[in-house]
Amino acid sequence: MTDATDTAQRGPAAGSPPGDAPLLTLEALRVDFKTDDGWVTAVDGLDYTLKRSGTLGIVGESGSGKSVTNLAVMRLLPPRVSRIGGRVIFEGRDLLGRPESAMRELRGGKIAMIFQDPMTSLNPFLRIDVQLVEVLRTHAKMSKSEAEGRALAMLERVGIPGAASRFRSYPHEFSGGMRQRVMIAMMLLNHPALLIADEPTTALDVTIQAQILELLADLQREFHMAITLITHDLGVVAGMADDILVMYSGKMMEHASAEELFASPAHPYTIGLLRSIPRPDRARKGRLYSIPGRPPDLDKRPPGCPFAPRCSYVRDVCRAVFPDEVALSPTHRVACHAHEQVRADVLAGKHGDLIGGDA
Ligand SMILES: Nc1ncnc2c1ncn2[C@@H]1O[C@H](COP(=O)(O)OP(=O)(O)OP(=O)(O)O)[C@@H](O)[C@H]1O
Ligand SMILES: [Mg+2]
Repeated sequence: MTDATDTAQRGPAAGSPPGDAPLLTLEALRVDFKTDDGWVTAVDGLDYTLKRSGTLGIVGESGSGKSVTNLAVMRLLPPRVSRIGGRVIFEGRDLLGRPESAMRELRGGKIAMIFQDPMTSLNPFLRIDVQLVEVLRTHAKMSKSEAEGRALAMLERVGIPGAASRFRSYPHEFSGGMRQRVMIAMMLLNHPALLIADEPTTALDVTIQAQILELLADLQREFHMAITLITHDLGVVAGMADDILVMYSGKMMEHASAEELFASPAHPYTIGLLRSIPRPDRARKGRLYSIPGRPPDLDKRPPGCPFAPRCSYVRDVCRAVFPDEVALSPTHRVACHAHEQVRADVLAGKHGDLIGGDA
């Protein structure tokens, strides 16, 4: 009793595990790629923080820089044709200055990444028992039989039916959903502190998608890991993310707690994404809304706000100057010249129900 009160009063700062210390902090991250026509910027001045055991959803249309941002965190971008600026601080150290050997140790160890296509991580020519054991033994000294025991237990944990009898199978012997589970098992073997999940469910049908997300949420609680969940569908992160970062053309448009983003979005692009979420519970008269136009090519990005050409709130200033970031609350920031008008319109119900609007 006394102990519990003590802990509650001291909070996380004194002695207890650093639950509130950021696990990952990006400061002014910038990624450029070399093309035939010179260097282009794919990620431009991105800042965010991910708490231990927290979940950040990164949302944006194709080409907005979601994957490149996280490949930069993992330092997996192609050398020579890419350059990374800013800082990527993981557990207090800037990863951009770490030697490649330290990065190899982190990848598949404290930081794991799962992709839309499990075959990006699984080798089609090797049995999965061999692959899982290899991952374990690269990062920790253990006997083959101990590693096999752990690998099998993890396959059971991620819900592979009859895991023991399928342990010595090849990846192609599993269905798409099961293969995704095998990859999740592989990535969790070393109990990462951070799991980066890049569109982990896009290739799967809706039911399987929900099961995989539920599995990830369960495993997150069990292993106390932080998750960066990348998707182009705000609906996917709605129930899972604590915070949501909306990206467009390599820039932060809006970043807020999930509650604030859904209740009081302040960026016209966020509103477009919200209106594009399908709502299976509601009969639709016409087609689902989609944002008119498409994102600019990197080498043809207009000056000012890249969303301006597609934005119904566009003003002259938007075409000339990228807006400064404004903090609307301690957990809500936006970069939009028209954010006050957008908020007022949302409050006045001018955007209707927002989610799942008709075209
Ligand atoms: N190696 C590369 N060389 C040149 N440009 C690249 C390279 N890799 C990515 N890009 C560009 O960087 C931009 C951001 O790409 P990224 O893959 O991060 O988008 P994304 O938000 O993940 O999109 P998607 O939803 O389609 O996965 C794109 O315009 C892409 O063409
Ligand atoms: Mg991507």
